[in-house]
Amino acid sequence: MQNVAYSVNPFTGKRSMLPEVLDDKERIDSFLEMNAGKKVVVVQGLGFVGSVMALVCANALTEEYAVIGVELASPGSYWKIQSINEGVFPVISSDPKIDLFFKKTKEKKNFIATFDPYCYSKADVIIVDINLDVDKKSNFEMDLEGYDVSLKNFKKAIETIGNHCREDVSIVVETTVPPGTCQKIVKPILEECLAKRGLTTGTYTLGHSYERVMPGPDYIDSIQNFYRVYSGIDDRSAIATETFLRTIISTEKYPLTRLGSTNATEMAKVLENSYRAMNIGFMVEWSRFAEEAGVNLYEVVDSIRMRPTHNNLMYPGIGVGGYCLTKDPLLASWARQNIFESNERLAQSETGVTINDKMPLYAFEFLKKEFNGTLRDKKILMLGVSYRSNVGDTRYSPVEYLYNYINRETTAITMHDPYVSYWEEKQMNIEQDLNAFFPGKWDVVIISTGHVEYKKNQKLMNQLLELDAAFILDTIGLLTKEEIYLLSGKHRVRVVGRGDIK
Ligand SMILES: NC(=O)c1ccc[n+]([C@@H]2O[C@H](COP(=O)([O-])OP(=O)(O)OC[C@H]3O[C@@H](n4cnc5c(N)ncnc54)[C@H](O)[C@@H]3O)[C@@H](O)[C@H]2O)c1
Repeated sequence: MQNVAYSVNPFTGKRSMLPEVLDDKERIDSFLEMNAGKKVVVVQGLGFVGSVMALVCANALTEEYAVIGVELASPGSYWKIQSINEGVFPVISSDPKIDLFFKKTKEKKNFIATFDPYCYSKADVIIVDINLDVDKKSNFEMDLEGYDVSLKNFKKAIETIGNHCREDVSIVVETTVPPGTCQKIVKPILEECLAKRGLTTGTYTLGHSYERVMPGPDYIDSIQNFYRVYSGIDDRSAIATETFLRTIISTEKYPLTRLGSTNATEMAKVLENSYRAMNIGFMVEWSRFAEEAGVNLYEVVDSIRMRPTHNNLMYPGIGVGGYCLTKDPLLASWARQNIFESNERLAQSETGVTINDKMPLYAFEFLKKEFNGTLRDKKILMLGVSYRSNVGDTRYSPVEYLYNYINRETTAITMHDPYVSYWEEKQMNIEQDLNAFFPGKWDVVIISTGHVEYKKNQKLMNQLLELDAAFILDTIGLLTKEEIYLLSGKHRVRVVGRGDIK
């Protein structure tokens, strides 16, 4: 692999040279001097979770913290450090609180980012927010052919903490981990590192409290104003974790839930996401049935959702994306077999992932059927790249898979996304201004992400109505009945999971 000496911010295209010497002690010390008297929180991993968690800690409710975010000085991640230190938050979101919170940290000067593990030695609290990936092996049709979980990087990250932290530090793991990880992996590593350094292993605490953060319009609130589950490897650890969480979360309104062990909270997280992934997978066959039977499944789901016991039945759609639902059921099944040495998998949860992974293929086949089996020479406009509405996260976006299928048939595909300027996975610049596409000539317009910018947007409606007759495919049920009626006067309109539009 080529040795790249810089890191590129995917949102702005700005390059930062990687530091030649990995020493940031002076800057860390002067930051701490400026924040003398404050407790120090170090957040390991400044991704979609850690960067926002760091903001929440820097704007804690009942405590003034000095917050240091640690990232890797790698080509893929160094730009996040640079961006924070230059005063530009590294996550783009529709939540106005992100800008507000970041502005406050700049005023208070209580948040910096670094690559130097020296900062762990200054921490009262360390929050682990790094990734722990599942390596899936799938073919082009997204049949899952196997998967593996490597704990190598995760263990290395914990070792780095153990090699630098104070012996009385409080560690809170937020990363989604295979059940059993805190007890069987994190604790032994930390204790071995502390013992090697001649420190006591009796005063640190280790808690687990998984994230339910929802990137999008309520990004900050999904951490600060939301229910939390936590535990500790022992009673002291659970109490320390609770004490910390109380300083950053509105626990009067959103009481905390303590579970009996870290195995239990780790299981709660992956069960929560497996439940959701299966709920989505469950609707796939019903979508096909509704299309065949001429039924509007959205309407059906709405009517069923009136029952309190069924109020989270999922809608049809283009597929499941993002970092969590696409892997968490597999993490759970892997843990059952590899950490708890069971001969059984979590078969239903694994099947949920397999079904969901194939959803973009169904959307593609749905589209192809409309064109007698081929999209050759068709000009296609896709509205939305990211996997989730109102946020610029393209990881495992189902749009990518739909794009790949279409791209096999026609290269005339144009993408728009108001939240993504550079599509990292496809190494492609993305137009962010809708007006750039109209007037235009499109054979197909696909609504692929439910961004607020596409919803009930009269200007977009007018622009679509001015096009020559086209095929409009709504993969997520974004169009209203009235919009479908209007557009159908000129175009062929179909909605995935709605069989009542011919
Ligand atoms: N994204 C979500 O919506 C979401 C929601 C709930 C839970 N989670 C969980 O939270 C965790 C983090 O997710 P994310 O979306 O922020 O992932 P991410 O990939 O965006 O961020 C992880 C970051 O950790 C960094 N990192 C890795 N090893 C490191 C090390 N040794 N030292 C410092 N930094 C290191 C990576 O470079 C990366 O920037 C995962 O376990 C995920 O499953 C994510």
